[in-house]
Amino acid sequence: MGRRQNDPEATHCSPLVLLLVGLASCALVYAALCVVLKPNEASSFSELESLELVEEGGGVGVEGESGACCRGTENLELWGAAVKWGSEFKFNSSEQCCKACKAMCTGTDGPCLCDSWVFCGNKEACGSKFGECWLKKQKDTLAPERQEVGETVSWTSGLIFGRGEGIVGLETKYGTLHIKLLPDCAPHSVAYILELLALRHCAGCQFYRAERRGSSWDSEGNHIKNAPFGPPFALVQGTLDAQGVIFKKIPTEVCPTIRRGSVAWIGSGPEFFISLANHEEWKKEYTVFASVLPEDMNIAEKIAQLPTTADVWNSINVSVLEKPVPLFLRRMKTSHGDLTANMKSN
Ligand SMILES: *[C@@H]1O[C@H](CO)[C@@H](O)[C@H](O)[C@H]1NC(C)=O
Ligand SMILES: *[C@@H]1O[C@H](CO)[C@@H](O)[C@H](O)[C@H]1NC(C)=O
Repeated sequence: MGRRQNDPEATHCSPLVLLLVGLASCALVYAALCVVLKPNEASSFSELESLELVEEGGGVGVEGESGACCRGTENLELWGAAVKWGSEFKFNSSEQCCKACKAMCTGTDGPCLCDSWVFCGNKEACGSKFGECWLKKQKDTLAPERQEVGETVSWTSGLIFGRGEGIVGLETKYGTLHIKLLPDCAPHSVAYILELLALRHCAGCQFYRAERRGSSWDSEGNHIKNAPFGPPFALVQGTLDAQGVIFKKIPTEVCPTIRRGSVAWIGSGPEFFISLANHEEWKKEYTVFASVLPEDMNIAEKIAQLPTTADVWNSINVSVLEKPVPLFLRRMKTSHGDLTANMKSN
């Protein structure tokens, strides 16, 4: 399984420096993903869970497909009103606790009764609380209350975004791309997005690279038989590096196959891309933290058609936007008060 020249953003270093160690289905160690325009590097150990969580249809069921994620963040205690008391509700793993939370929102409509869970999984540190699983409901799902965070915290917490929840807008002058965040697959990534959201600005955030599907992928993102795998690579790429935020590298989280609409980090961020196609030919090495609602993919397509100039990054032909497209992160719930006057919305 050699690396292909035509990898995702074509921002990698020469394939020679890239080492693929181990089995594809197991942990991979890779070195050096280079991002052009914003120097970046990532050397990560990725735990690949072969999960194909593709969210289709506007309001996405949390259960997703089989093998859906159930991850949380260690050393974090989320607050919030308990919907299920943990003192009498114990499990052996954080995953079981997460699943119990998800089980409370399997209905096809309406918000989940449980949108966050807190689990004590360290036998020594937790003592009599070991195994406690508290299911909670946040006042504001997009701004969960943090009780404590840090090494000494023995709790692990996670968020669950049910149908219609956890959707934020990437607003551009070409329209607003609604993206559904995936905190159960990429909790650290989503924590960063929520941090940006709380900031209420995203100065410096923009798309700067745009490549169409060309004649290699159809409008549903399927690869056309025998067509090349790019260039163009069917993606729009940008950065979520906001001024005033100290960016901390995001650890590798769940890396499923990139599908049309996947929103993924390049390496450990803050460079990211939205895929216009199903890229089975790319290895599962990009943390996917959100997916664009299908009805908004036309906006991504629109951006992909903007005028570009040709450039070569690490010997790969790329198309860079003549004019980068600024983007802003928006809460979508309160569409009135939140939008500022200088934003054009759809
Ligand atoms: C947790 O593990 C213990 C011992 O392995 C087992 O007896 C118990 O049934 C498990 N509890 C749950 C909820 O899985
Ligand atoms: C990159 O662009 C150059 C100049 O347009 C072209 O000759 C070359 O074949 C391209 N390489 C690939 C891999 O498409």
